[in-house]
Amino acid sequence: MRIEENYSLLTHNTFRLPVKTRWFMEYDNEEELGRILRDEYFQECISLHIGCGSNLLFINDYRGVILHSRIKGIRLMEENEQTATLRIGAAERWDDVVAYAVSKGWGGIENLSHIPGEAGAAAIQNIGAYGVEIQDVIERVEACGQLSFGKRIFTKDECQYGYRYSFFKNEQNDPYIVTHIVIRLNKKPVYTLQYGRLAETLARWPVLTPARVRDAVIAIRKEKLPDPNQTGNAGSFFTNPFITRRHFDKLTAQYPGIPCYPAGGDKVKIPAAWLIEQCGLKGKNHGQVGVYHKHALALVNLGDACGREIALMAESIRSAVKDRFDIELTPEVKYID
Ligand code: EPU
Repeated sequence: MRIEENYSLLTHNTFRLPVKTRWFMEYDNEEELGRILRDEYFQECISLHIGCGSNLLFINDYRGVILHSRIKGIRLMEENEQTATLRIGAAERWDDVVAYAVSKGWGGIENLSHIPGEAGAAAIQNIGAYGVEIQDVIERVEACGQLSFGKRIFTKDECQYGYRYSFFKNEQNDPYIVTHIVIRLNKKPVYTLQYGRLAETLARWPVLTPARVRDAVIAIRKEKLPDPNQTGNAGSFFTNPFITRRHFDKLTAQYPGIPCYPAGGDKVKIPAAWLIEQCGLKGKNHGQVGVYHKHALALVNLGDACGREIALMAESIRSAVKDRFDIELTPEVKYID
C-alpha cells in the first residue's frame, strides 16, 4: 500500500492540471482495499476512486482521499475452440489488454484500441468506439462495496449498461469499487466495420486480422484526437446528445446535411462535434483552453489552463449549442470540485 499526503495529481489527470490531493492512497490487492474502506478516518473523508484520470476535470485541489488501484494482471480463465475468457485487474492499462488480445489473434476489442484509461474505469464508463462498446465483451465485473466492504460479482445485466453508462456511474446506487473485470473474446473474430473510415482504411487488405483492425483504429485516432502526452485533454468532452425524431426533422429542414446515428425508438443521436463545429467554435481558443482544431469534441489545455477555465469554456460551448439548436450537451467528463 502507498499513502501520500498533499500529493500532486499532475500525472493522474490527462488534462494535465497541476492540482493536489490531501491524501493519495494506492492499494495492491482486495485485502488492502478492505482495510482502507474500514478505516474510520477514511470514512470521515470525502473520497474519489480514479483510474488514470482520462475522464476527470479537477476544478480545485481535492480535499479528501484519492484512491487508486494497483491490482494488475491479465489471466486466461477459460478457453475453448471459440472463445477465450480473461480476468483482468482493474489497474491494467486498457490498451495493454487490447494489445494482448490482438497479439493472440482474439477478436472483440480491437476497435477499442488506443483509448486512454484503465480496465476498471473502462468497464464503469462503458467505453465505446467505432461501433463497439466494452459491454459487448463483458462477462462480469468484480467489485467491492464501499459501504458493505463485501465482494460482489455483477453479471453483465446487473451492470445495466447503456451509452457511456453503467450501474457504477449512478450516484443513487451504493458505491462499488471495481477490482477485476472478466471479458470473453472470440477466437474466430467477427469484425465491426460499419464505421466508414475504418472500412475504407482496411479495404486494401484481402484478409483481416485483429492486428490490422487495431492498426487502422490507432491511425484514425492519432489523426483526429490530441495525444494526452503532448496536449492535455480528456477525449470527447461531451456525450453525443439524443433528440426526438420530431426535433431532428425540424433541424434537417434547416440543416439538410446534419449527421446522425440510429438510436432506436423515437430517438436520434447527433454528433456533438458537428453541433459545436456549426457554432463556429472548432479551433477557437480562449486563454489557455482550446477547442481542438481537428476534432471539435475535444477541449485542450494549451499550457497552463486551470480546471475552472476549462469548465467556463465548456459552459460557453453548451450555451452556444443550446441557443442555436435547442439541444443540451452533457459533459462526458466528470467535474471534481
Ligand atoms: N464531426 C464534425 N466535426 C468534428 C468532428 C466530427 O462535424 O470536428 C462530425 C462528423 O460528421 C463525424 C461525426 O461528427 O462523422 C462523428 O465524429 P467521430 O467519428 O469522430 O465520433 P464522435 O461521435 O465525435 C464518438 C465517441 C468517441 C469515439 C468515436 C468513434 C462519444 C462522446 N465519443 O465520437 O469516443 O472514439 O465516436 O467511434 O461518443 C471518447 O469517448 O472520449 C471518445 C473519443
